[in-house]
Amino acid sequence: VRLGLIGCGAAARAYYVPSLRARPGVAAGVVAIDRNLEQARAVAAELGGASVATDFREALDRVDGVVVAVPHTLHHRIALECLRRGVHVLCEKPLAETADEVRSLVEEARRRGVTVSVNNTRRMYPTFRVAHRLLRDGAIGRLTAIRIREGERFGWDSATGFYVDPRAGDKGIVLDLGAHVLDLVCWLAGGAPALEACQDDSFGGPESVATIRARRDGCEIEILLNRLVDLDPRFTLVGEAGAIECHPWEWKTLRVTNRAGRTRAVRVPTRSNTYPELVGELLDNFLGVIAGAETPLIPAAEVLPSIALIEAYYRRRSRMPMPWYEGLEARIGA
Ligand SMILES: NC(=O)c1ccc[n+]([C@@H]2O[C@H](COP(=O)([O-])OP(=O)(O)OC[C@H]3O[C@@H](n4cnc5c(N)ncnc54)[C@H](O)[C@@H]3O)[C@@H](O)[C@H]2O)c1
Repeated sequence: VRLGLIGCGAAARAYYVPSLRARPGVAAGVVAIDRNLEQARAVAAELGGASVATDFREALDRVDGVVVAVPHTLHHRIALECLRRGVHVLCEKPLAETADEVRSLVEEARRRGVTVSVNNTRRMYPTFRVAHRLLRDGAIGRLTAIRIREGERFGWDSATGFYVDPRAGDKGIVLDLGAHVLDLVCWLAGGAPALEACQDDSFGGPESVATIRARRDGCEIEILLNRLVDLDPRFTLVGEAGAIECHPWEWKTLRVTNRAGRTRAVRVPTRSNTYPELVGELLDNFLGVIAGAETPLIPAAEVLPSIALIEAYYRRRSRMPMPWYEGLEARIGA
């Protein structure tokens, strides 16, 4: 199987390069593709002699599948073009910015007889898988609340800086971290909730702090996402007969509280100890899918509810109250 790696920035180097290096037979045949030739060359060297390209279109005849790891606003356009050329796609999250874009990818893949899947890595966490099963088995009764508080001071070593660059787009943490968090919410709650309130700190550029209130079938959902300060993260599922608490970056242990209020830590078996190993599971699956031996672990259609929710968020968002800024423009004569 020949793979193209489109986008040789921070995610490619942190996750895909180590995963591919652990699969030397695949790594040697990779085409490292980046519009910045230096980035492509650096990744190719780490992969032990992979070839390089600066325009993904020129490499598509040489590959069976591509990993798309470019800035968010390019995902849909690049993935669609790859599918049109009959190439399988494993796209980084968020798969797209709108529900229609997701549908167009699913439809194009179907038409061309290839697949499109997405790296919503947290779906791979054994903890969230166990949480999903416990909910389905009724272990904590009917779900009444989901409370999420998450984020850390932004320190990701992005090659382009697109995450916080207003020239790259006006969508920030909700499209980025929210692609993981809202996908988990939709998955665990059994579908997309209705938005009740959404606010953030954007003055026109990408937001860094966002609050979301939503509801689904009597389950109240409260989410705080931020990338300004390190918070003690919480991911709590409350049911009529107990609660489940997961750590958003830890996939080996979750805490379950039973009807009597007794809490126990549940250790979950995992074959992956590092994030690149988790991504490696997805990569193995992608290779199996291309070979026709497996079905995608996270098919594109499964993230449709969360992408629709993100789209609705950006349609409805308003600026959160920040009274200290009020009248500032007038006071400084702007
Ligand atoms: N699954 C996860 O947990 C996770 C974690 C981090 C990042 N990501 C995702 O990975 C993706 C990439 O993020 P990053 O941090 O590596 O970004 P980055 O800015 O570090 O790198 C992006 C790379 O894409 C290249 N690029 C831009 N336009 C291109 C084009 N048209 N053709 C080819 N290359 C192009 C840039 O030159 C750059 O090298 C994002 O979608 C991000 O959300 C996912």
